[in-house]
Amino acid sequence: MDSLSADHLIGIKDLSSKDIELIFKTADAFKEVINRPIKKVPSLRDITIANLFFENSTRTRLSFELAEKRLSADIVNFSAASSSVKKGETLVDTVNNILSMKVDMVVMRHPNPGAAKFLSERVDARIVNAGDGTHEHPTQALLDSYSIRERLGSIEGKKVVIVGDILHSRVALSNIYALQKQGAEVMVCGPTTLIPKYIDKLGVKVEHNLRKALEWCDVANMLRIQLERQDIKYFPSLREYSMQFGLTKEILDSLDKKIVVMHPGPINRGVEITSDVADSDQAIILQQVENGVAVRMAVIYLLASKIKR
Ligand code: CP
Repeated sequence: MDSLSADHLIGIKDLSSKDIELIFKTADAFKEVINRPIKKVPSLRDITIANLFFENSTRTRLSFELAEKRLSADIVNFSAASSSVKKGETLVDTVNNILSMKVDMVVMRHPNPGAAKFLSERVDARIVNAGDGTHEHPTQALLDSYSIRERLGSIEGKKVVIVGDILHSRVALSNIYALQKQGAEVMVCGPTTLIPKYIDKLGVKVEHNLRKALEWCDVANMLRIQLERQDIKYFPSLREYSMQFGLTKEILDSLDKKIVVMHPGPINRGVEITSDVADSDQAIILQQVENGVAVRMAVIYLLASKIKR
């Protein structure tokens, strides 16, 4: 059986294009499974997975939980807000206590960049990063690429613009790595203050005019402004941001081609994207969520195959 080159999924940066291909091929098989009347396979009956969420989540948390259940794994869910972390317990102590209950894999979302890597070097379990602060969100980027491949047939040669708060976005960084490894051209678009200073090193184009970016691209991935990670003001007001960088139906319809519109969620309707765009047939936002389950099943299945049983 083919296997991943990495023992954990910390970031897309660590994956090869062959790893990504293998994840997608495996996800294709699981997508077929989750569209059957009985959406379940017994593959991971002997595996126990802990889902550790130290930060809010709707899509990622439910998607991982469903993926694990569809693979017949045993699961335990942990939310920082109702745990002994509030009493001062460290991350490593918390996880080692959970692992002593015979847990094989940990899916973790954490507000600190590097938390998943830190854990993978200190505990004896497979670690899957479900988003670590402003660093990476690898399964989001995998499901985004999988959804582009599904809609457009392939990623190679496609032009993808990521619009919005690039500075605070783990989705942007993971998408840049994932798309480039598959041969896409990537552009970022947003106010200068929300484009990181190191962006040149990532080999992406930079554009500050939304219309020009949309005229260039095949796919626009619209990001949310992450106000919860902003301790200073990066633009005068959300209204002004929206006037310059918000995607409206009027702009979309004025282009001479039908681009694909994506959003990782949660959407702030009327800020980065209007409702009529989010609900249009050019948007694949709910397909992204649907594909997330198959892609996460593939990641968990492939990592579990490396566990000695
Ligand atoms: N896309 C994403 O990570 O959404 P959640 O924060 O709801 O998990």
